[in-house]
Amino acid sequence: MVVSDGPIISAGQVAFLLGIIPIFVAWIYSEFLEYKKTSSLSKLHSDNNLLDLEKETIKEDDRAVLLEGGLPRSASAKFHSSAIKMNLIRFMTMDDSFLLENRTTLRAMSEFGAVLVYFYICDRTNILGESTKNYNRDLFVFLYLLLIIVSAMTSLRKHTDKSTFTGKSTLYLNRHQTEEWKGWMQVIFLMYHYFAATEIYNAIRVFIAAYVWMTGFGNFSYYYIRKDFSIARFAQMMWRLNLFVVFCCIVLNNDYMLYYICPMHTLFTVMVYGVLGIFNKYNENSSVIAVKILSCFLMVILIWETPGVFDILWSPLTFLLGYTDPAKPDLPRLHEWHFRSGLDRYIWIIGMIYAYFHPNVEKWMEKLEESEIKKKLSVKTGLVAVSLSVGYLWYECIYKLDKVSYNKYHPYTSWIPITVYICLRNCTQQLRSFSLTLFAWLGKITLETYISQFHIWLRSDMPNGQPKWLLSVIPEYPLLNFMLTTAIYVLVSHRLFELTNTLKTVFIPTKDNMRLFYNFAAGAAISLCLYCGAVILLHILHSAVSPTLVLENNMVASDDPELCS
Ligand SMILES: *[C@@H]1O[C@H](CO)[C@@H](O)[C@H](O)[C@H]1NC(C)=O
Ligand SMILES: *[C@@H]1O[C@H](CO)[C@@H](O)[C@H](O)[C@H]1NC(C)=O
Repeated sequence: MVVSDGPIISAGQVAFLLGIIPIFVAWIYSEFLEYKKTSSLSKLHSDNNLLDLEKETIKEDDRAVLLEGGLPRSASAKFHSSAIKMNLIRFMTMDDSFLLENRTTLRAMSEFGAVLVYFYICDRTNILGESTKNYNRDLFVFLYLLLIIVSAMTSLRKHTDKSTFTGKSTLYLNRHQTEEWKGWMQVIFLMYHYFAATEIYNAIRVFIAAYVWMTGFGNFSYYYIRKDFSIARFAQMMWRLNLFVVFCCIVLNNDYMLYYICPMHTLFTVMVYGVLGIFNKYNENSSVIAVKILSCFLMVILIWETPGVFDILWSPLTFLLGYTDPAKPDLPRLHEWHFRSGLDRYIWIIGMIYAYFHPNVEKWMEKLEESEIKKKLSVKTGLVAVSLSVGYLWYECIYKLDKVSYNKYHPYTSWIPITVYICLRNCTQQLRSFSLTLFAWLGKITLETYISQFHIWLRSDMPNGQPKWLLSVIPEYPLLNFMLTTAIYVLVSHRLFELTNTLKTVFIPTKDNMRLFYNFAAGAAISLCLYCGAVILLHILHSAVSPTLVLENNMVASDDPELCS
């Protein structure tokens, strides 16, 4: 579709505008109120400012707990629904104290909205230019090595936490390593997109598999050790994974599947949650875990390996998981989902298995570290030699295959390079204790950098389009442009990570499921109202003013973060 005779605007986009404009106005007004207040207060007594600050930092949760202190359970439900109504009324009437109380939330929401508007401007308007991708292996490797050198010089940290191998803090220490690992891969993954480095296609498949492995590993460890199956925790995870992508879909009128990493991780996270959550009382029993893992394998075989089952099972969800690439309009709607989820269908289970045996392996490694030098050295050399040769064999026999045949073997072999990496990365105590914090920092924001790249680093130009172009702010100077757009892009991604977290603490209470439910219901209701309002508005405009407006149905956000706390 070429935008030739007027803007094409979807109901979802109008709904977004209807929602964000009042929030933006309210935020500006609340800043004004705050300014007035502080300036009048500072005339009275400068210490009062401190008190205000303290008051602000009391978390929403605690506030609710304080308020509810004496309420019995049944009254709590009434309390929530009326509290939400009250808040809505106070928002609409622009109640001064309400705006002041929620100034930081309003600011976060406005910023979130502004970022989305920036996305739209970069990707869908011609205000900023575009250029074509251009691959040069020399430049690609140069940039990657440069980043490694810079990060080794500036951010190599030794984590002196001695208890790596004795229990409690392992989860924490593992985080550095996993995040650093994510960073390693994410940088290549992104550069692969930026420079269209098609020759490393197979490596990218391995990286995606490694992310899914980590989803299995991390979530299994978490649920197995912490045993926290609370809805709130689950909701938080879903919020983190999907909030931003849902808004991207609405504002840019894209299908969810364009950002296939998100549905994939959501699916596997839900699977791990389900596997451990069902009969979680018996998780201590190793045969129960064995049965659970076996049934995972059977389930995957049933769904992905048995012809026909996949389509029957997923076709009801086509509205959510369907995707049509404008460049290949003839493929079935579910093709993309089948392909992407199929590639990594087993690796999350492998991740769970590794997580299950992780404590044992750690104990064994601890023993090895303490044993005499000769034995230690020979075991380690043996391990490294085996890993290296297995890795080499894999590289020669599997990795070097062309894309299509590689993909056929990928689901069954992706665990090999992952295991090799893990063995080599952990082989000595020094290696284990060091990590590059710059890469770990990048690893923390992988989700945001993944989503943002489509629109503010690359460009797709049209709804559902793959990002074939580069965003060009400084035409004719590709490297300078690369530097500038990358800086903005990484900053925006990091900011989005923080905003998602800020909004999460506001809208997802951790201790109160009733309140969570009411927030969810209110969010859904508000989204629906906005959406209906948008449809009506578009109809009016369509028939009255401009005959070129096209109505396109779009998905409705079910968890619109409207003011409901
Ligand atoms: C579970 O997996 C998802 C997706 O990778 C991730 O965002 C989340 O942090 C994981 N949860 C834990 C507790 O590791
Ligand atoms: C080895 O390293 C990886 C990441 O680099 C980590 O996820 C894994 O838990 C480590 N294994 C052990 C046994 O410490």
